[in-house]
Amino acid sequence: MSSLMDELARLRESAMSDVAAAGSTEELEEVSVRFVGRKARVNEILKGIRGLEDADKRVVGPAANALRKDVEEAVRSRREQLEREREVVLLATDRLDLTLTGRRPPRGAPNPLTEVTRSLEDVFVGLGYEVAEGPEVETDWNNFQALNTPPDHPARSEMDTFYVPNPHGGPPGLLRTHTSPVQVRVMSSRTPPIYVVCPGRTFRRDTADATHSPMFHQIELLAVDEGLSMADLRGTLEAFAEGAFGRGTRIRLVPHFFPFTEPSAELEVSCPLCRGTGCSQCASGWLEIGGAGMVDPNVLVNVGIDPERYTGFAFGMGIERVAMIRYGVADLRLFFEADVRFLDQFRGIPVTS
Ligand code: PHE
Repeated sequence: MSSLMDELARLRESAMSDVAAAGSTEELEEVSVRFVGRKARVNEILKGIRGLEDADKRVVGPAANALRKDVEEAVRSRREQLEREREVVLLATDRLDLTLTGRRPPRGAPNPLTEVTRSLEDVFVGLGYEVAEGPEVETDWNNFQALNTPPDHPARSEMDTFYVPNPHGGPPGLLRTHTSPVQVRVMSSRTPPIYVVCPGRTFRRDTADATHSPMFHQIELLAVDEGLSMADLRGTLEAFAEGAFGRGTRIRLVPHFFPFTEPSAELEVSCPLCRGTGCSQCASGWLEIGGAGMVDPNVLVNVGIDPERYTGFAFGMGIERVAMIRYGVADLRLFFEADVRFLDQFRGIPVTS
């Protein structure tokens, strides 16, 4: 008997010390199975009680049951302790500092070319024009032929471009060399009066340098109505120049040639940097800005408009050129390189003075 009581005492001792030594809930579970699980020694002892003397039964039974109860209790409290410790560790490692300020995503801004385009659109919309757009891949007819530029016309050599195979097997398409084909599209699909402004991306087979790029942008204006004359074109360009380059900007029209306008002119504005007195940007006090003229009657015939009844004028210019003047940028490639250090300088600079 005393040997059973001794054994229970030894079991108690090693159970208690193993419970205390368990470093994780898994380890504790294993200790628990070993000392109070189904196959534990204490259960064997309890089963064997029936065969003991009465006097022994009275001592060994309660001692074995007490052992079970105490070990289970010790396991429970050790488990609680381990779980609390685990929580403390978790709280420390998953710590979230709600007082930290958030990380603001950097704020973007439109490219300066977009800003200039929008401001020029605004000037023309203020003069009563509506914005019209067309595709960047055009037909030879819209880009050249309808604009009085047949296949053998020498003016084509100034506008060599990139040709795009036609998936339907017809004549190839081309990347438009100017925004003028939008004129053709608008005139072919509407009847006058027409007052539109056409901004967009254009392409030419040019080697990139400080003032050339195979991809650039233009904005173009077209008016077709009864009785329009060169005087209307001039008045419109004067209003535009002041809107785009600031009050007091003067213009002059220098004779020029375009296949689709007659007469044609180059538009020059008084240099907004030196107010026309002459500086390193302009030398002469004048800056060449774009081309203009009265729509050639042949073009009107090509788009089905009666040139005896209607006349029109058109004007086109490069957006990059205007942006370079406005912002004092010497190399237009900078606008396309997406270098935030460059682009960031224009944030919030007003586009017109
Ligand atoms: N399309 C001409 C060019 O790109 C510019 C222009 C437009 C000239 C409208 C006259 C009238 O060179």
